[in-house]
Amino acid sequence: MQIETFELERNQSLYENTVKFNLTESGIHPYTLRELLTQEQQAEVLDLRLGYGQTNGAPELRTTLASYYPGCNEDNIIVTNGSAEANFVAFWSLLEPGDEVAMMLPNYQLLYGLTRSMGCTVKPFLLREDRNWAPDLDQLESQLSDRTKVIALCNPNNPTGSILSKQDMQRIVALAASRDCYILSDEIYAGSELDGVETPSFIGLYDKVIVASGLAKSLSHPGLRIGWLAGPRDVIDGAWHHHDYTSISSGIISQYVANVILQPEKRQEVLDRGRELLRTNVPIVQQWVARHSENFRLIPPKAGGMAFIGYNIDINSSELVSRLRKEKSVLIVAGDWFGMDNFLRLGIGGETDELIGGLERIDEFLGELRAG
Ligand SMILES: Cc1ncc(COP(=O)(O)O)c(C=O)c1O
Repeated sequence: MQIETFELERNQSLYENTVKFNLTESGIHPYTLRELLTQEQQAEVLDLRLGYGQTNGAPELRTTLASYYPGCNEDNIIVTNGSAEANFVAFWSLLEPGDEVAMMLPNYQLLYGLTRSMGCTVKPFLLREDRNWAPDLDQLESQLSDRTKVIALCNPNNPTGSILSKQDMQRIVALAASRDCYILSDEIYAGSELDGVETPSFIGLYDKVIVASGLAKSLSHPGLRIGWLAGPRDVIDGAWHHHDYTSISSGIISQYVANVILQPEKRQEVLDRGRELLRTNVPIVQQWVARHSENFRLIPPKAGGMAFIGYNIDINSSELVSRLRKEKSVLIVAGDWFGMDNFLRLGIGGETDELIGGLERIDEFLGELRAG
């Protein structure tokens, strides 16, 4: 099975630990275990017996997760290694060669590359900058056919940080129902909205909805590698069937910690910390863009640790990013890696000092670029 290079992940893998300022992350600054767990919980971790556990996820964790999705119980949930694996097993179990997937673009590359590698066709519908990154749903409608198996969404969206309006959600549901296809909604950035209003899930709006999510972004814990799918029982069972071939189960320690994070009070505390950080960092990026308004523009993100910045300088985004890394030891994401040259994605969910330090070096780089 041929699969195209996952540009963003490959570049992060190669370079994120080699630079002074890594501004490629789209999530919120992680916790240490000591910051997160009480002494009693730390002791409980030490006493955990390190078996495989339940392969579709610890029942307590699945019950906790189900409580966040209307109409769901633990049988509607499978726990995976990151939401990357959640998305993977969802598509691997659902798609047959020849199927079509209507996909919101720009988007995290995972499902785009995976769909194509499986002999299926991606039918794009675009988020439009001229509409503040709202989707073109007429285009979605025109892309649907009898072969459409799934409409794939990322809401809130990576890389734009935009959120679907209620009306757009309803229209997407109506379009999916008209073709009897699934909606796969990646909701990993829900909970990091700057206005504090949590993005509603697609679950509950239509019976063929599958949600992929995890702890890596709004919930600040990528290193635990915990993700999940929530959805109809038969789809979750199908995903479990395929999950037996991928990683069997998620780590016991990670699942214990996940269940701590997902208790309502703790979850709120983690999300509040993330929103605070974003409320500090977004204005810093906005001010930076305002200072460079002759070359840069930004529709401020509504959620997520990222700013998707357009530019009009005559340099390709991959080249700009590569030179910035080599000359200034700052790593950012090229629009090219989302199929959108002349954009850059800046991670803004990290520590404020790192963001400011990185922006200062980008200033130096731009000064030198202009000087020729
Ligand atoms: C939309 C989206 N889904 C999934 C992932 C992967 O998340 P995880 O670390 O939980 O596997 C990412 C990572 O950037 C993402 O942006």
